[in-house]
Order: sequence, then C-alpha cells, then structure tokens
Amino acid sequence: MASHQPSSLPLLLLTVLALLISPAQSLTCTSQTFTNNALYAHCLDLTQLTAYLHWTHDQANSSLSIAFIATPANSGGWVAWAINPTATGMKGSQTLLAFLSDGVMTVKTYNISSIGPITESKLSFEVWDLRAEQSGGVMRIFAKVKVPENAVTVNQVWQVGSSVTGGVPEAHAMQAANLNSKSTLNFNGGQTETPGGDSRTKKKNIHGVLNVVSWGILFPMGAIIARYLRTFESAAPAWFYLHVFCQISAYAIGVAGWGTGLKLGSESRGIQFTGHRNIGIALFCLATVQIFALFLRPKKDHKYRFYWNVYHHALGYAILVLGILNIFKGYDILLPAKKWKSAYIIVIIVLGAIALLLEAITWIVVLRRKSSKSTKPYDGFNNGEGRQ
Ligand SMILES: *[C@@H]1O[C@H](CO)[C@@H](O)[C@H](O)[C@H]1NC(C)=O
Ligand SMILES: *[C@@H]1O[C@H](CO)[C@@H](O)[C@H](O)[C@H]1NC(C)=O
Repeated sequence: MASHQPSSLPLLLLTVLALLISPAQSLTCTSQTFTNNALYAHCLDLTQLTAYLHWTHDQANSSLSIAFIATPANSGGWVAWAINPTATGMKGSQTLLAFLSDGVMTVKTYNISSIGPITESKLSFEVWDLRAEQSGGVMRIFAKVKVPENAVTVNQVWQVGSSVTGGVPEAHAMQAANLNSKSTLNFNGGQTETPGGDSRTKKKNIHGVLNVVSWGILFPMGAIIARYLRTFESAAPAWFYLHVFCQISAYAIGVAGWGTGLKLGSESRGIQFTGHRNIGIALFCLATVQIFALFLRPKKDHKYRFYWNVYHHALGYAILVLGILNIFKGYDILLPAKKWKSAYIIVIIVLGAIALLLEAITWIVVLRRKSSKSTKPYDGFNNGEGRQ
C-alpha cells in the first residue's frame, strides 16, 4: 500500500473547490439601461435573489421613483417589491407585484398582513405611474410612491415566486435567499442588511468563524503536515506532534462550533437546513472516532497497523471533504458579505497549492531515495513516526 500515489490530497482539495465555486454573477445594476431611457439617481444590486433596484428620491415631493428588476423563479411566476412601513419582514409589506397574465404584464398592489393567500388591495401610501414589462425572462416594475416626509430610509422587501393560479400569485419558496430578501434602503444610496436580530447575528458569526477555523483551515493543515512533512527525515518526530496538535485543536474548536450550530438550529423555528445539519452531525461523529484513533494506534510493526492506517486515512479524507463542503453550505445559509466567502476560497486555494507543491517535492525526494537505495523501498506510512 503506497501512500504516495500522485495526488490524492491536492486533487481532492481542487475537486471540492471546483464543485463549489459557482459561476460569477457579473451583471450589476450600473450596466442596466431602460428602453424608455429612464434615468435614476441611484441603483443597487440587492443582497438576495439576483434582483436590482434603481431609484430617485424626490425630497420636495416626498416621493420615490423606482424600477425593480428581477427574474421570476419560473417562467409562469411573479416578482415583487415592497416597502414595509411598520416592520422589516414580509408581514405589513405594502407590495407591488408583477406577473404575466394572458401574455400581458400586469402589476397589482397587495397589503400583506399575514402568511397565506393574498388578495389585491390598496396600499397605505399613494402609488402612481405603476407599470411592468418583461423581456428575456426578466421582469421590471416601475412605480412612484409617496414616502414619509423627511424620511431618509425605508424598509424594503422583495421576492420572486414560481407560479400564478387564476390571477392569484402562489406562495414563494422558503429558501434562505427568499427569507433574507430584505434590507433598509437609504435614499442617498446603499442598503443595510436587516437580519433577524443583533444577538442572533453575533451567534451566527461565532458559529461561522469557529467552524471555518476548525474544519476549514486547521484540519486540512494538519492533514498536509501528516502527509508531507514526514517524508523529510529531519522533520521527525516534530511533524507527528504538530499533526496531533493541529487536529486536537481543530477538534476542540470544531466541537465548540458544532455546539453553537445545534443551538442555532434549535432556535430557528420553521426553517431547517437538513443537509447542513446532517453533515455537521456526521462530521462530529467521524472526528470523535478519529480522535480515538490516536489511543488505539497499534505499534508500527504490529500486524494490524496496516488496517489502522487505512481506517485513519479514509476517515481523515472523509472529514476533509465533508468539512469543506459543509462550510460552503454554511456560507449559503448565513450569506455573509461576499468577501468572507472569497477569503475562504483563497485560503483553500493556497492550501491546495501548498499541498500540490509538497506533493511534487515529496515525489522527487522519494524517487531519489528509491534510486539510491533500491533494495529498501520507501514505505510511506511507517516512515519516521515520532518514535523512530
Ligand atoms: C408629487 O406627488 C403627487 C402625489 O402625492 C403626484 O401626483 C405628483 O405627480 C408628484 N409630483 C412629481 C413631480 O413627481
Ligand atoms: C393592511 O392590513 C392590515 C391588517 O389586515 C390593516 O390593519 C391595515 O389597515 C391595512 N392597510 C390598508 C392600507 O388597507
């Protein structure tokens, strides 16, 4: 059983990465123009659902002229933009909703007071010049609305749905993006995200940081140390202690992160991120078994050592892949600012590059060693493990 087959670790990291990087969304509101040459003072790439808002605030008239652009979840679906004068979420939203009705774009207003079927109604403020259009699957709502005098911000909510039945828009999906599609619109430009609450946001951030550091960074580092440093005779036994130190720290931090995740899950009513949760639980179990591997390790020349090696490595790679996968699932749930996901992708690329480089170097070292002592083949697993 040769451990030095070209590849596994760097390839693994790169494959996981390739699967996770979604195609970049290059379209931004600044490149969008309107058929009627309408010009707006500001525009925003909204934080969710690939939607855009263009607007001009007329302070003298206390009015807001908007163009909302989004793609319905399905070709027979709908798009909506709302101001919520009383709260930050959907409940209380004064909504402009557009859909295709017999081939004609229709836009209606809804006062949404609760979850459930909605009926057309007047809004709590004046709306005029209301119209909608669509082209290439993208829908646009144009409107002018009255806003409170001297207001500088409003709570906005937007949404996309997949179907309309008999002129009534059907409920939208309940994915994270559908639930987080709200922000505070600042008339002078910009938006501020409005999540569920400050303490909860803080908890989510702690959960994210702990898990990224543990499963996402320390754990792969420990694996790289174990796989590559032991090739260098001078690195024994240091590599072994470094590996153990990395993985035990990763485990301790990971368990803390896991705990915060369970707490968040139990507090999140109505929404369950089953995949993320199950992978999290699997990770905790695998990592716990892996920690026990340390105590169950047979002596180097024991006949069961080979099986121990197989088990330890298989578990290690499984944790590596699942850990990184779950971090990206977590990013998609918490949706932090893009820079955090980008930063982590860079970390993974750097770790992958280091692994690739070390893979090449260790191959050279191993091949040289083989050719100089052709009678004693290199044994990847048992070389210099701490108690030579
Ligand atoms: C000012 O607001 C009123 C509605 O309150 C509207 O009818 C009018 O067109 C607005 N004027 C401008 C210049 O937008
Ligand atoms: C919107 O609905 C709520 C709850 O049913 C009601 O209290 C409110 O007066 C309605 N607003 C308008 C403008 O009809």
